[in-house]
Amino acid sequence: MKQYLDSEKQKSVEELINFLKIPSISADSKYQSEVRRGAQWLMDKLTSLELDTVDLYETPGHPIVFAEKIISPDYPTVLFYGHYDVQPPDPLNLWNTEPFNPTINKTDIHPDGAIFARGACDDKGQLYMQVKAVEALLKTDNLKCNIKFIYEGEEEIGSDHLDQFCMAHQDLLKSDVILICDTSILSNDTPTITTGLRGLSYVEVEVTGPNKDLHSGVYGGAVANPINILSKMIASMHDDKGKVTIPGFYDDVEVVSEQERALIQEAPFNLEEYKKEIGIPDILGEEGYSTFERTSIRPTLDVNGIWGGYIGEGAKTVLPAKAFAKISMRLVPFQDPDTITKLFVDYFTSIAPSSVSVEVRPHHGGRPAVTPIDSAAYRAAEAAMTESFGKRPLPMRSGGSIPIVAMFKEVLGTDSILMGFGLDSDSIHSPNEHFGLFNFYIGIETITSFLMKLANK
Ligand code: BES
Ligand code: MN
Ligand code: MN
Repeated sequence: MKQYLDSEKQKSVEELINFLKIPSISADSKYQSEVRRGAQWLMDKLTSLELDTVDLYETPGHPIVFAEKIISPDYPTVLFYGHYDVQPPDPLNLWNTEPFNPTINKTDIHPDGAIFARGACDDKGQLYMQVKAVEALLKTDNLKCNIKFIYEGEEEIGSDHLDQFCMAHQDLLKSDVILICDTSILSNDTPTITTGLRGLSYVEVEVTGPNKDLHSGVYGGAVANPINILSKMIASMHDDKGKVTIPGFYDDVEVVSEQERALIQEAPFNLEEYKKEIGIPDILGEEGYSTFERTSIRPTLDVNGIWGGYIGEGAKTVLPAKAFAKISMRLVPFQDPDTITKLFVDYFTSIAPSSVSVEVRPHHGGRPAVTPIDSAAYRAAEAAMTESFGKRPLPMRSGGSIPIVAMFKEVLGTDSILMGFGLDSDSIHSPNEHFGLFNFYIGIETITSFLMKLANK
């Protein structure tokens, strides 16, 4: 097997590069046909594997790709999930290479080279590891699992239609385990398996003052400035201990056991490297929790964008009519996104002074998820990683969100294995996103061995 995989390396990268050339940006309607082209590219690739079925399912949004090969009712069935849509590449001026012209460059962390392109790590590169692993097993006559693939084009915009698809196609999606490669490992010599994801509540707020922009000299001082007000409201949503001040926000937060907290403490963490990597003079967060805890077992509130007034060249003296912000709250078990959104709306409305009016528009949300570590599938993943990395992987919760994981559990009753191979430093959602060739290859190797181990248990 190792020999076969080695001989395929170059071809695998070339194919991935072609996949990455397609700008399948789900958030931007101008790219609708490109998203479809991404789905079609996958269809063509899966068709070449000679599976039982390869189908494109239309949705009111972007299409879903489903394929399967059922070999024997005695074999375990694995459902692979991934997303072929990508985040918008902006700000474009901060890319060193073109986001949709994949380029291989070496970095300190990736001395063997990394592919730079939007979607290289999140999630086309990782999704493609699954396809190549299955292909390797098929070509060498080693596939002893039934396999199903579901690849969506709307993960980055909330997986709205996949929810409906899941509910409508429960039999089709039936499996023993779901394998998702869309998360990270701690470092290339500290393998980890993700055992938790945070949930999400995302809202957009609008603060309105006067009925039009005013002269800030003529009216300033006597009329509420929506940007001043919004800034103050946002600032008041954290106290000086770094806690979110929304009443009830922490009511349903899971109290993580001392045992699990001790385990989190064991994961290697270098504060100086952490600061240097992202260029910050110091860290900041909720008092009483470590950095890993703050980004995994604790909920947060962050402004993702804020705008209003004059932002053009030079100075224009204006008292703006409106101010806006996009705010996300990352959630942990057992917080419910709808409950949290409601708490936010009530609180935000209640702290608004009578001099302005406010509106809150909820966007997509998602539930947090925790995955078991006492299953046969987890043990197979652990054994596969131990073999490929030469080190036993640590279970670790992640701070990111993949809302479909909780949905799969709820609707299908199936647990996921979150075995990703990216690094947090791979700049997903940022300029210069990349995916290490080492990570890509070891991902294919590990998934191949995961499937073999799962079949042999
Ligand atoms: N693959 C990421 C989530 C992720 C990244 C998990 C790194 C663990 C480690 C996924 O594509 C993503 O970006 N999810 C969004 C949520 C979605 C609802 C827009 C996120 O976490 O912001
Ligand atoms: Mn992703
Ligand atoms: Mn993403």
